Amino acid sequence: MEFSKTLTAVITALLLAPLLMAADPDPLQDFCVADLGSKTSVNGYPCQPSSSAGDEFLFSSKVAKGGDPSSNPNGSNVTELDVTEWPGVNTLGVSMNRVDFAPGGTNPPHIHPRATEVGLVTRGELLVGIIGSLDSGNRYYSRVLRAGETFVIPRGLMHFQFNVGQAEATMVVSFNSQNPGIIFVPLTMFGSSPPIPTTVLAKALRVDAEVVDLIKSKFAGGY
Ligand code: GLV
Ligand code: MN
Repeated sequence: MEFSKTLTAVITALLLAPLLMAADPDPLQDFCVADLGSKTSVNGYPCQPSSSAGDEFLFSSKVAKGGDPSSNPNGSNVTELDVTEWPGVNTLGVSMNRVDFAPGGTNPPHIHPRATEVGLVTRGELLVGIIGSLDSGNRYYSRVLRAGETFVIPRGLMHFQFNVGQAEATMVVSFNSQNPGIIFVPLTMFGSSPPIPTTVLAKALRVDAEVVDLIKSKFAGGY
């Protein structure tokens, strides 16, 4: 009896493992180019008819050229290549970004709720920081990376990049989701809409309400 229960538990765990470990769902066809205009809502996007899905959806030149990092208060510019920018990745569980940094620029502390990230620095010098969960004692992992060096960020962990060099820096990252999502931690806390009550943030951050209001005023215009 005990043995059969254990056997059932082991078989159930083996059957569930791929589901629990998967990122986006597995595709059931070669390509499913996203029909971004569809009114039907599914987990991802419905496929365009294969007759209208041409080669242009499988290739992209968008990250060949980055944006101007000094046009942003963070001193960084993200060129996104998720499914909305690259419909060919629909259902394939992958996407990319290019990020350009001015000297002293940062991609501020953020979290991807749906993807692990791997990145390659292609020019400049970037401090990459990752903060572990409470389980790790909030351990801060960091390294300055230069062209050709890589990093990995487990799904759900807060991380940032900061250009510590004198010149512009660039990195290219990929995700194991067509739609990794992003939670910018400062913006989420201080620029939500409607705002989180100041009393809540003052208590949580152990500071006076004026300090919270000052920070909120910095995020009034978004990012
Ligand atoms: C970098 O961390 C990015 O999410 O683009
Ligand atoms: Mn990231």
